[in-house]
Amino acid sequence: MSARLLPGGPVAESILSEVSDRVRVLRDKGVTPALATILVGDDDASAGYIRIKQRQAADLGFVSPHAHLPADTTQAELERVIAEFSADSAVHGLLVQHPVPGHLDYDVALNAMDPDKDVDGMHPVNMGRLALGLPGPLPCTPAGIEALLAFHEIPVSGREVVILGRGATLGRPLAMLLAQKRPTANAAVTVVHTGVKDWPRYTQRAEILIAAAGVPGIIQPEHVRPGSTVIGGGVRYEGRRLLPDVDESCAEVAGAITPRVGGVGPTTVAMLFRNAVSAAERATS
Ligand SMILES: NC(=O)c1ccc[n+]([C@@H]2O[C@H](COP(=O)([O-])OP(=O)(O)OC[C@H]3O[C@@H](n4cnc5c(N)ncnc54)[C@H](OP(=O)(O)O)[C@@H]3O)[C@@H](O)[C@H]2O)c1
Repeated sequence: MSARLLPGGPVAESILSEVSDRVRVLRDKGVTPALATILVGDDDASAGYIRIKQRQAADLGFVSPHAHLPADTTQAELERVIAEFSADSAVHGLLVQHPVPGHLDYDVALNAMDPDKDVDGMHPVNMGRLALGLPGPLPCTPAGIEALLAFHEIPVSGREVVILGRGATLGRPLAMLLAQKRPTANAAVTVVHTGVKDWPRYTQRAEILIAAAGVPGIIQPEHVRPGSTVIGGGVRYEGRRLLPDVDESCAEVAGAITPRVGGVGPTTVAMLFRNAVSAAERATS
């Protein structure tokens, strides 16, 4: 392997250390930041993710009121619980663990949430703020990728970034974020997808290639420009096995690359807590 590795762990640590300082300042002012969580159903993986986030929230000094709704919860009941947390002035951030059971519509349910409490940054109002360049909670994985590039001192401004995937969670908001006029963004961004059959023609010229497809192994060495930076955002889980978009052999061609495990993931979770502390600061300022 020749590429320099770009781990997400140290990026997350630095973000969480900043979050912890900001929580301390709030607590010193008598404010206890609260990140509420909602879990619907009994999916083991989702319950595990919520537990990890609650443990981390407690370590950082948040309280996290929690609602665990049964798997047969109705859409109306889910929206009622979201609206209740949204209306509670003691709750600053709110997270609905995704995915929700198939009979529920997550996107519709999000509309019941106060956008200022949306720690995932996925509320339509926050997507609109991102598109307009207005301040607000940023979608966690795209914001985590921007932070990862900045932390590892990969220049982005003025460079050619190609994103494979235009999904609402990752590719589309990331394209908006990295095209913004900011020193850590400011890139020439191209987004490719299934509508661009010759997408390798674009990825081969990318100075920074970001995989956001969720198709295991879709990025192979022949798709990578020698010496470029490759970020693996897309993953698929088969059971507990994580299958990344970027084949490990790409490390032979790339100049810098995220590791198979511990790349983008840790930065996503850290951004969630950054959004949560920002929400608490906004609500109490
Ligand atoms: N690491 C993390 O922390 C983290 C967090 C969130 C999400 N993710 C991962 O990010 C990935 C993207 O999620 P998402 O919700 O934004 O996306 P999504 O809605 O699943 O969309 C996938 C995108 O990839 C494109 N695509 C799929 N197969 C392709 C192919 N063979 N050739 C070219 N393009 C192809 C699709 O094109 P069309 O639009 O043409 O269909 C679509 O734009 C998922 O794997 C998800 O697990 C990772």
